[in-house]
Amino acid sequence: MEILSSFAISKTILAILSFVLLSNIPSQAQGYLLPKLKSAQYNISTLQAQQGGEIGFALSSGRYVPYSSKSEDVAATQRLMDFYWGWILDPVFYGDYPTIMKEYVGNRLPKFTKKEKYMLKGSTDFVGINYYTSRFARHESNRTKIMYDNYDTLAVSEASNIDGKILGYKDQYGWNNVYPEGLYNFLVYIKEKYKNPKIYITENGIASSKISNPLKDEHRIVYVAAHLNATKAAIDDGVNVQGYFLWAAFDTFEFQAGYSGNWGLYHIDFNDTLKRIPTDAAKCSTVDDQPNPKSPMSHSSLVPSFSQHTSHMSQSTQPGPPPLNTLVRPNLQLNIQPNF
Ligand SMILES: *[C@@H]1O[C@H](CO)[C@@H](O)[C@H](O)[C@H]1NC(C)=O
Ligand SMILES: *[C@@H]1O[C@H](CO)[C@@H](O)[C@H](O)[C@H]1NC(C)=O
Ligand SMILES: *[C@@H]1O[C@H](CO)[C@@H](O)[C@H](O)[C@H]1NC(C)=O
Ligand SMILES: *[C@@H]1O[C@H](CO)[C@@H](O)[C@H](O)[C@H]1NC(C)=O
Repeated sequence: MEILSSFAISKTILAILSFVLLSNIPSQAQGYLLPKLKSAQYNISTLQAQQGGEIGFALSSGRYVPYSSKSEDVAATQRLMDFYWGWILDPVFYGDYPTIMKEYVGNRLPKFTKKEKYMLKGSTDFVGINYYTSRFARHESNRTKIMYDNYDTLAVSEASNIDGKILGYKDQYGWNNVYPEGLYNFLVYIKEKYKNPKIYITENGIASSKISNPLKDEHRIVYVAAHLNATKAAIDDGVNVQGYFLWAAFDTFEFQAGYSGNWGLYHIDFNDTLKRIPTDAAKCSTVDDQPNPKSPMSHSSLVPSFSQHTSHMSQSTQPGPPPLNTLVRPNLQLNIQPNF
């Protein structure tokens, strides 16, 4: 696996269109897929011949985990996966929207022509995944109660499950729950459901929004190491991950958060000529078997490890996506919890 930091210039041309699926209007997918396809068709042979380029896209979302063991919540979980991921991935790999979308959206879901279906099938060189966290999925039959999720799904996403438990742990300096198992599970899901496509992790990272000294970002080291390790576990299980991009190289102006997020490996002092200062995470090399001499901490204290995992192996050889009501690696746990 090539581990690419945000600084590295990849040979791959990433035609990344981060697509935030906030809308309830499925026809937008059609507007998204078809022009992309046309422009890709127009350019792909030139690009590939000249530069060995690739054309694909990145999708933004997380893995869903059932809110309870009730079958309606398990079904709601699959629906959210199909509405958020399948909405784009099913056409691109199989030439049509997921059956469940057709069933739930009915006539409002546009139809592809035969020719479009044919053109869509296999039209991407890779799948880009932006992963930060995962959420629970709960069945909700009352559409008017569905505020932020797609009301056609009759499902809502939740931060905690029926027992009030969250996924992973809440990072005190970022804003989301840290759940690398979700990345592993999601990668395996994509592999099983979409014929083992080439995958780039196009975004993964954590903010330092609530930290007093943004240069002391140990929580980021722990986060990135844990997610690289989850990625490695997925690669070991046959997922075709070819690259990993960290969000972000520098503190940025973020949608909805402005400059408050501090996502950068390089901190920008906005009060002093935009000075760029490497954080501790920037000084820590990519996860490898050698301790990093530049790092102030020993390798073993930096890198969280997962407990032994074996039970998933037999499951992953079965056809079809892994069952949504079980975690693929239920015993995949961080050994160390950040406690700074
Ligand atoms: C394809 O080529 C056209 C014309 O050169 C350009 O405007 C467009 O951005 C290209 N599309 C992609 C996906 O590279
Ligand atoms: C659905 O939810 C809305 C908003 O909370 C509420 O006013 C309405 O009574 C609910 N309908 C049913 C059938 O429960
Ligand atoms: C920048 O200056 C503002 C206004 O004085 C202050 O509130 C803020 O904390 C400063 N930020 C940093 C990163 O020093
Ligand atoms: C990753 O997890 C494995 C167990 O799955 C553990 O043995 C290993 O030490 C971890 N490696 C790193 C680099 O965190």
